[in-house]
Amino acid sequence: MALSFEGRVVLVTGSGGGLGREYALAFAERGASVVVNDLGADIKGGGKSSAAADKVVEEIRAKGGKAVANYDSVEDGEKVIQSALDAFGRIVVMYLTPSLLSHPISDLIHRVHLRGAFFVTRAAWSHMKKQKFGRIIMTASAAGIYGNFGQANYSAAKLGMLGLSNTLAIEGRNYNIHCNTLAPVAGSRLTETVMTPELVASLKPEYVAPMVLWLCHEQCQENGALFEAGAGWIGKLRWERSQGCVVRQKNQPMTPEAVRDQWDKICDFTDATKPTSVQGQYNPLGQKLPPSTFVFSPTQCILYALGVG
Ligand code: NAI
Repeated sequence: MALSFEGRVVLVTGSGGGLGREYALAFAERGASVVVNDLGADIKGGGKSSAAADKVVEEIRAKGGKAVANYDSVEDGEKVIQSALDAFGRIVVMYLTPSLLSHPISDLIHRVHLRGAFFVTRAAWSHMKKQKFGRIIMTASAAGIYGNFGQANYSAAKLGMLGLSNTLAIEGRNYNIHCNTLAPVAGSRLTETVMTPELVASLKPEYVAPMVLWLCHEQCQENGALFEAGAGWIGKLRWERSQGCVVRQKNQPMTPEAVRDQWDKICDFTDATKPTSVQGQYNPLGQKLPPSTFVFSPTQCILYALGVG
């Protein structure tokens, strides 16, 4: 049966263009009420215009869909979420896609990508908890997963979003709130300056959108995962850990030489394990930190991350 989003309220941030626009159109086509958030920023994050979001809203409405525009920056998470609540009374799915590829002031990159994702999610969290349903997709980037020359600030912010997603996945699962992360690749104003026209044509945003819709659907039980998608291809990523070895001898001091001498073994991925939780981190030594060490509410995490708590 076709996947329907009838009755769902979907917020797609940065959906005045590129990937976000495609997602907004796809959600609307399947019955969702869509909040098209876009600041109308230029590629460096400067400027402001309502035109981008308005145009997408018009496109959706012209096809008989339901959509409203919101022009706030994702840095104003409360305002973005409030506009969804004002228009449609609730919020169930969020796809977080604002973009800035690089910026001389790295703070802006972090404010938009990482803290923007954080503030929008925080503002929606209690609503999602109350209704016991939510789907959140964070947009990461291969630059964050693997690193990319010249993109230090962007990479850091993008992988920060994965960390945020991983914890929200744990804190949300008892409320049927799922959070996953996607590193897309698609032709857009971001990438067309570095891709050939042929490549841009083969990497249409519409070849990523179906993956986003599936992850956001109530039938999809995936939570806390990381995917890459582009050109119609989709793959899942996970962590791998070598068996490692204990380099310390009983009642002996631990030395850097011992680390050096066991280096091949430490880095040998034969029989690697695939840890999936922070508790599992201590399993090789048969030790566990008490679970309470890891219990933070989202608010505490926020305050801690901002250095206020
Ligand atoms: P795009 O530049 O075509 O679209 C992004 C939209 O975000 C723009 O319309 C812009 O006005 C809006 N925006 C910028 N700052 C904002 C803010 N503070 N608040 C609200 N909206 C804001 O970019 P594209 O290619 O569609 O990228 C979407 C997301 O995917 C971004 O997060 C990007 O980093 C990520 N990504 C894209 C890749 C690609 O191949 N296109 C590769 C890896 C990641």
